[in-house]
Amino acid sequence: MKNMRQDNDNKKMRVGLVGSGYMGKAHAIAYRNAMAAFAIPQNLLQCDMLADATPELAQSKALELGFSRSTGDWKSLINDPDIDVVDICAPNFLHKEIALAAISAGKSVYSEKPLALNASDAKEMTEAAERAGVKTLVGFNYVKNPTMQFAKQLIARGDIGDVVHFRGVFNEDYLADANLPFSWRLQKQFAGTGALNDLASHLVQLATHLVAPITSLCADLKVVHQHRPLAQNSDDSNTGVGEVENDDQAHMMVRFANGAQGTLEASRIAWGRKKWFVI
Ligand SMILES: NC(=O)c1ccc[n+]([C@@H]2O[C@H](COP(=O)([O-])OP(=O)(O)OC[C@H]3O[C@@H](n4cnc5c(N)ncnc54)[C@H](O)[C@@H]3O)[C@@H](O)[C@H]2O)c1
Repeated sequence: MKNMRQDNDNKKMRVGLVGSGYMGKAHAIAYRNAMAAFAIPQNLLQCDMLADATPELAQSKALELGFSRSTGDWKSLINDPDIDVVDICAPNFLHKEIALAAISAGKSVYSEKPLALNASDAKEMTEAAERAGVKTLVGFNYVKNPTMQFAKQLIARGDIGDVVHFRGVFNEDYLADANLPFSWRLQKQFAGTGALNDLASHLVQLATHLVAPITSLCADLKVVHQHRPLAQNSDDSNTGVGEVENDDQAHMMVRFANGAQGTLEASRIAWGRKKWFVI
């Protein structure tokens, strides 16, 4: 960001946001407040266009989140010559198609994690971005936390000796109540895996960043709450149940390239203490 300031104080980065649910809102708030935390020019980040599943939803969210324009078709956002950065906060199954289209259009791409539904799709996306030479970022936000950057410095300086073990826990309770309704997150075709993709992906990225690449592992995944109610009708009558297709809990024993061992644990149904890490 500092370099950009030095390069050109008048430069604008016009952001096109695709998906304005939980994380889209978080990104929009961050764009508005980035100036308070980073040394960037006043009007560098412009919240320009917002795309969502329908024109009506996109329009109301654009008003709410401070975007100038909206569309119910993400392709028109990507084809708009004024958009510099495509920020993908849509459900997981859309990341690949949107990112590949944005890369072809020469845009910078900021995609939420998990990058794709599987490793081969993620590799295809990475290679396309490398070939096109566009700037990319995946939403692994925890690695940017100052405590994690400090941990990285301590390790690099040798202050804590050789790292021989990493233990990471990423527990959440957003589906701990078994009566919470069915959603796209619980279906393989839309989300891929469950807690593994959604939460353990952050742990894998952090462990890789702090320790070394993971070279081998064994893992155990489990669906605990196998059925959840579908969305209710307006008269509160239930419309049935949906079958949960992906893991509520994911446990891994891993080995790192430097010989260290590790255990990683993620859950989306855990009451009590949330995320923590030990090295
Ligand atoms: N980095 C993190 O810590 C973090 C946290 C939460 C979510 N996420 C990621 O963010 C992404 C979104 O998750 P969320 O919790 O915001 O989900 P969400 O269901 O709250 O929001 C998804 C949004 O995408 C929109 N959408 C659906 N189909 C669309 C289409 N065809 N075109 C445009 N928009 C469409 C939905 O209407 C909704 O606004 C996921 O990939 C998730 O893994 C990351």
